[in-house]
Amino acid sequence: MIDLRSDTVTRPTPGMLKAMCETEVGDDVFGEDPAMNRFQEKMAEMFGMESALFVPSGTMGNQLCVHLLTKPGDEVIIDETGHIFNYESAAAASLSGVQLRPLKGKYGKLNPELIESAIRTRNEWDPHTRVIALENTTNKGGGAFYTEKELLQINNVAVKNGLFLHLDGARIWNAMVASDLSPKFFGSISDTISICFSKGLGAPVGSMILADQELIRQARRIRKMWGGGMRQIGLLAAAADFAVDEHYSLLKEDHRRAKEFASAVSENKSLSIDLSSVFTNIVLFDVVKGTVDGVLKQLKGEKIEMVQFGPSTIRATFHHQIDDSDLKVVIKAIKKV
Ligand SMILES: Cc1ncc(COP(=O)(O)O)c(C=O)c1O
Repeated sequence: MIDLRSDTVTRPTPGMLKAMCETEVGDDVFGEDPAMNRFQEKMAEMFGMESALFVPSGTMGNQLCVHLLTKPGDEVIIDETGHIFNYESAAAASLSGVQLRPLKGKYGKLNPELIESAIRTRNEWDPHTRVIALENTTNKGGGAFYTEKELLQINNVAVKNGLFLHLDGARIWNAMVASDLSPKFFGSISDTISICFSKGLGAPVGSMILADQELIRQARRIRKMWGGGMRQIGLLAAAADFAVDEHYSLLKEDHRRAKEFASAVSENKSLSIDLSSVFTNIVLFDVVKGTVDGVLKQLKGEKIEMVQFGPSTIRATFHHQIDDSDLKVVIKAIKKV
């Protein structure tokens, strides 16, 4: 099966498994896993943040950050396509007593004017605007990334209004490749970042939050409270570390394949795609003749899987376990549907 449903479907490679087998481990709840301690320090240093904490999922990473930056009754500004708003089971309300304020940005991205227009007056009855949550790259927004200028402007709005900036960097690696911005730059504009190793980088499990020392100290306790304290996770550190070192350089090929695929989609009159909306490894396109179900079934018959992403929208996501020969098969199939 050529699985383009998500970049989370990758399997560990032999090199990754070898690294996992060879790592040292200890009990991380006691803070004694040497591989994880080293990896957390490495990531904090890479992003120029004081400290880092490994968490089981991007969802826990985002929700820990929301929890740490807010009090019940606060409000978080977010794009209406944001993962925190759409796909985290209303956790911000449930775990932190926080209200989300979804705004209509473009391709899942917010802009300074939009954010400023949503900041509330401080009084007894309005929710207290506390956090700006950005996603980079965007998922439901189609893999778009922020430019340096856009991020600096948004950071400016945050500083001017005393707001925190949280970055959902589940695909920060794709954003780094596409925007040519350094991890330290992202660290310099954010109060908290959540990064994932289990998306395009291809680790089986794991995300990490990055913040200052005090927030990470508090995060360790909340992670434990939420059932995310783990024991011999040097195994996961080894997999994620291998993914950072060995798979980051493959992401640009995923972006190239996504563009080639999108161009084949544009040649099929039953489908519609805005080629200028293909930014990284995610391709969103619409079915204009026939149904999404029909197209997905036909592709499945050719051993290709994609996923429905709206009433008439399909998402195809490229990752390092899709090579050029797979791409050829997919292009041939998409031209025929
Ligand atoms: C932008 C974004 N943030 C957060 C997550 C959550 O990650 P996880 O599935 O590890 O909880 C995802 C998952 O795909 C995502 O796309």
